[in-house]
Amino acid sequence: MPEITFHGHSCFVISGNEGSVIIAPFLTGNSMADIKPEDVSVDAILVTHGHGDHLGDTLEIAKKTGTLVVAPFELAIYCELKGAPKVHGMHIGGSHNFDFGWVKLVPANHGSAFIEDDGSIVYTGNPCGYLVKIDGKLIYHAGDTGLFGDMKLWGDLYNIDVALLPIGDNYVMGPEDAVVAAGFLKSKIVVPMHYDTFDLIKQDAEKFKKVVEEKTSSSCRILKPGESLNL
Ligand code: NI
Ligand code: MN
Repeated sequence: MPEITFHGHSCFVISGNEGSVIIAPFLTGNSMADIKPEDVSVDAILVTHGHGDHLGDTLEIAKKTGTLVVAPFELAIYCELKGAPKVHGMHIGGSHNFDFGWVKLVPANHGSAFIEDDGSIVYTGNPCGYLVKIDGKLIYHAGDTGLFGDMKLWGDLYNIDVALLPIGDNYVMGPEDAVVAAGFLKSKIVVPMHYDTFDLIKQDAEKFKKVVEEKTSSSCRILKPGESLNL
């Protein structure tokens, strides 16, 4: 029976009997984060793309603890070159059974370049979303993405228990598109993410919840940083 805990922005820990993962560990510099990198103890770090608010503290945590980093192939190699001791590269459409559970990489419509301190830009492949199954529960983390029609396909192919969807607008889907995504995905529960971290992405999550529950078959759970959802 996994537990999903929100740590602000797009960062979640999924923890079950099989194992545990953290997705998008942006903690340092994240005004919404309720934990620090040294508090993270998981079997793997799942990274969606190379932007700083998603790669976040991945390298620091991986170097200190030896935690496995799972990422799209180019980003996995980037992490390895930067000192991550254990990486597992995957790519869009590919799935793998790990000790902690099942992981499938799915597309996200976004960018994935990492901008180094000196201003040089490193291309880290395609961005992705993740389907993660731990203890038999299927969780979809959309990563950073706009709305796209293939979400309907996953809604038809999979029984998604929880969909973690960005609603912040500007860089990713806004609330209206995220409601359409929820209708496509047909998950039991929708949790909004990637909003309120800074002014540009402020959103009314309560209003989003109301519209999701009016227009789709999903229920919506708003998680405050530190709050958990038990499946
Ligand atoms: Ni991004
Ligand atoms: Mn982002």
